[in-house]
Amino acid sequence: LTPQTLAGKRLLITAGPTYEAIDPVRGITNRSSGKMGFAIARAAREAGAQVTLVAGPVNLTTPHGVSRLNVTSARDMLTAVQAQVDAADLFIATAAVADWRPANAADQKIKKDGSGQVPELAFVENPDILATVAHSPRAQSGALYCVGFAAESQDLLANAQTKRARKQVPLLVGNIGPQTFGLDDNALLLVDAHGHTELPRADKLTLARQLVAEVARRLAA
Ligand code: C5P
Repeated sequence: LTPQTLAGKRLLITAGPTYEAIDPVRGITNRSSGKMGFAIARAAREAGAQVTLVAGPVNLTTPHGVSRLNVTSARDMLTAVQAQVDAADLFIATAAVADWRPANAADQKIKKDGSGQVPELAFVENPDILATVAHSPRAQSGALYCVGFAAESQDLLANAQTKRARKQVPLLVGNIGPQTFGLDDNALLLVDAHGHTELPRADKLTLARQLVAEVARRLAA
């Protein structure tokens, strides 16, 4: 039986990619599968937490006992998170949120007119969901514990430390390369105020259970 290290705790977690519309039939997304976030949701539930999972467009089954909200864009995800976050003790941001969205999504499908002209896309920045939550008074006072993720292609430790400071989260988890999107295995680098530790390569559910135990220890400290 799993130790109930998160008994009585309420977890809010984001997972998967976001999808940013260009027009009603086209959009921009990324290759996040959502697997790591869904595995963490499952592991946290097993550890006794009450779990709300805010999921971008993914093809994954909701873990048993987890309450799920489906969203599409980064702005939808922020709205869903803000509606739920006051009831959470723990926020884990695993979603690969699109950094930018098309500035003006067209109401109608953009037509190819045969002239060889191509549309020009302008972008605007999306809200940073994790930073928004982590800068809130409840997070800053320690009532809400925030965990961020980082997918970096180089200098993982240095980048994870910088990201941890910039987003003001107590724990930042780096995906140790190569690129893990869609894969079943991963390895994690945990960076907090005391230093860093590595969870060696394993399947995502095993890692999720280890990460939940690490987070629970820090919550209890
Ligand atoms: O800045 P970067 O995208 O590398 O930060 C990654 C972390 O921030 C992840 O935890 C991700 O879920 C979160 N994030 C977010 N909203 C964004 C961008 C990133 O919540 N717009």
